[in-house]
Amino acid sequence: MSVVTASATREQRVTVRSLARRKCRGERFAMLTAYDFAFARIFDAAGVDVLLVGDSLGNVVQGEETTLPVTLEETIYHTRLVARAAGRALVVGDMPFGTYQVSPEEAVRNAVRLVKEGRAHAVKLEGGRDVAPAIERIVGAGIPVMGHVGLTPQSIHKLGGFRVQGRTEKARARVLAEAKAASDAGAFAVVLEAMPADLAREITQSIAVPTIGIGAGPDCDGQVLVMHDLLGLTDGWSPTFVKQYANLGALASQAARSYVEEVENGKFPEPEHCYR
Ligand code: KIV
Repeated sequence: MSVVTASATREQRVTVRSLARRKCRGERFAMLTAYDFAFARIFDAAGVDVLLVGDSLGNVVQGEETTLPVTLEETIYHTRLVARAAGRALVVGDMPFGTYQVSPEEAVRNAVRLVKEGRAHAVKLEGGRDVAPAIERIVGAGIPVMGHVGLTPQSIHKLGGFRVQGRTEKARARVLAEAKAASDAGAFAVVLEAMPADLAREITQSIAVPTIGIGAGPDCDGQVLVMHDLLGLTDGWSPTFVKQYANLGALASQAARSYVEEVENGKFPEPEHCYR
């Protein structure tokens, strides 16, 4: 697969149509999670194409073990913070567990809230065949939907843990069918999480809409990372597919230690920090 860089043709505003054009031209794009105004503004200015307010919010912001407890109210709140900062990026709000599985009607109602109250440009939900009716109805209401197949963290208890998907022939066919189902139902892009690179390549070549990989190898149309992994803000273990581009955790820790030390020994505040 030949790769074209998008920098020369970078659009003023990323839309579902511009992402589709990128796939046709073989231009890659970058998605990153964001949960607040400050980081969303930095990422938007840095050229991140899609800002995902992921339900990884539960893990990296709220300190939960899974994404399951995240609520629609919490996602709406964080999506609004991110949307305020996004001058160029497409903002995608992740639909929390339980907000789209019960019925397509409820899925539409909740997606509408993410757009109306959270200012999302699009929503994301996990699954393929089972959620196809919900995808169709949400798209029918005028809201673009991003699919998500492979390792779907909201099904963690059904999957029996955070494990790579699609390793056997049967599992491969299942993941491919899920991706096709999401695309056929009208999804404008599909996240491929934790699967062999050759399966992600096959899916990317088989469906018309862009794929966005996380732990799915180099041949997807886009890539996504969780911002805390990218910036070194997590504590301890991180998956093999993560690349840490900075260690803000160590910098923040050093800054806080210096502050504590200077307050304790009377060095801060100095005269230039005081009103006269
Ligand atoms: O919630 C999230 O951050 C996600 C990405 C990892 C794709 O779903």
